[in-house]
Amino acid sequence: MLTNDQLSAWDRENFFHASTALGAHARGETPTRVITGGDGVYITDREGRRLLDAFAGLYCVNVGYGRAEIADAIAEQARELAYYHAYVGHGTEASITLSKMILDRAPAGMSKVYFGLGGSDANETNIKLIWYYNNILGRPEKKKIISRWRGYHGSGLMTGSLTGLKGFHDKFDLPLAQVIHTEAPYYFRRSDAAMSEADFSAHCAAELEALIEREGADTIAAFIGEPVLGTGGLVPPPEGYWAAIQKVLERHDILLVADEVVTGFGRLGTMFGSDHFGLKPDLITIAKGLTSAYAPLSGSIVGDKMWKVLMQGTDENGPIGHGWTYSAHPIGAAAGVANLKLIDDLDLVSNAGSTGAYFQAALNDALVEHVNVGQVRGEGLMAAVEFVADRDSRTFFDPAEKIGPRVVAALFDEGVIARAMPEGDITGFAPPLCITRDEVDHVVGKFTKAVASVLG
Ligand SMILES: Cc1ncc(COP(=O)(O)O)c(C=O)c1O
Repeated sequence: MLTNDQLSAWDRENFFHASTALGAHARGETPTRVITGGDGVYITDREGRRLLDAFAGLYCVNVGYGRAEIADAIAEQARELAYYHAYVGHGTEASITLSKMILDRAPAGMSKVYFGLGGSDANETNIKLIWYYNNILGRPEKKKIISRWRGYHGSGLMTGSLTGLKGFHDKFDLPLAQVIHTEAPYYFRRSDAAMSEADFSAHCAAELEALIEREGADTIAAFIGEPVLGTGGLVPPPEGYWAAIQKVLERHDILLVADEVVTGFGRLGTMFGSDHFGLKPDLITIAKGLTSAYAPLSGSIVGDKMWKVLMQGTDENGPIGHGWTYSAHPIGAAAGVANLKLIDDLDLVSNAGSTGAYFQAALNDALVEHVNVGQVRGEGLMAAVEFVADRDSRTFFDPAEKIGPRVVAALFDEGVIARAMPEGDITGFAPPLCITRDEVDHVVGKFTKAVASVLG
């Protein structure tokens, strides 16, 4: 048995952590955090602290921690058949069953699902499929991808380019030339304060159209967006936004990728965000909630229109040159089947809708009058509170004050985990979909206390 100090030393000496201040961590200036267990909405760390995880890991543990049904399904699959590949028509009962369960739940017009491991690689697959599609259609110039500032689509080369956050570009030589960004659908941060929500949606659509015209529609292949902006600030779209955007895309024959890595499988109170907002995507990205992160698995759901062209492409050129060793890994697929059953059995999609509405109302009641609260917003079980130095003039705090991270640190000390979102002082919440009203009351009570301790 390792002592905690040994573990901490090994952590600092050997472990390259994701999204971490590497020097500070290696030198011991920031705490090591070793998580040892989980149950429902709670996790436990090695000091025995019980923390209410109001961000569900990275908004992924949708059914909550410690679900024996999924653990058992994984164990059974590992004993029976831990691995076989998906190349040249191979599959397993779990991967075939899961593909059927996904398509049964997906929005209309979707045809097949390709399985990967995480959201980033699924979006990488999507871009390859889009380029293949336009090559098969004889449109080799139609290749650029439009993404939004503040969108989050992963941190690979292409997907890090699609992500519209500076921290994922700077010093990495990104974005790649094939990716261009357009206005974020962030009404609270609109430059013209006089605009109504509907005006702002029309403005975003006009900006998109102007970009397409500048670049030439025959060079633009696709537009990618999350139904609700996630990492960029947990921002629901302004009124009429998706209808206005889709009109522009249709006019210029541009494909739509709905990145539902966060919103897929219930978080908004509907099975998919596309259904929630009336999106008609050509591709849908799924990950996180597909297995509630009990095992790594993602997917690209391909719509009918693209599927026909992909089949034509392989008829003409031979098998599709795309695949990974772990595509449709049986353990991930078994976790996915058990997870989707659990979501149905526990009625978690409707709980996300009703408890989500309760959560937003409670946040609003507790904080909307605070002089430093600029906005309380959310959709389903995604919620955010954005802080400002001055409400009337909508002046933001100097980032050097680190208000957002300090609020989240104070909340952690109260035993609740939320996330300090980048590029602003924004506290984000996205708890497991099984959260109860009592647990919501606990989160809001502790959060109110944390805000008061930082901002008065
Ligand atoms: C909307 C969205 N797309 C893609 C990704 C990337 O997924 P992963 O981190 O599994 O590669 C994320 C991750 O947070 C995400 O929120």
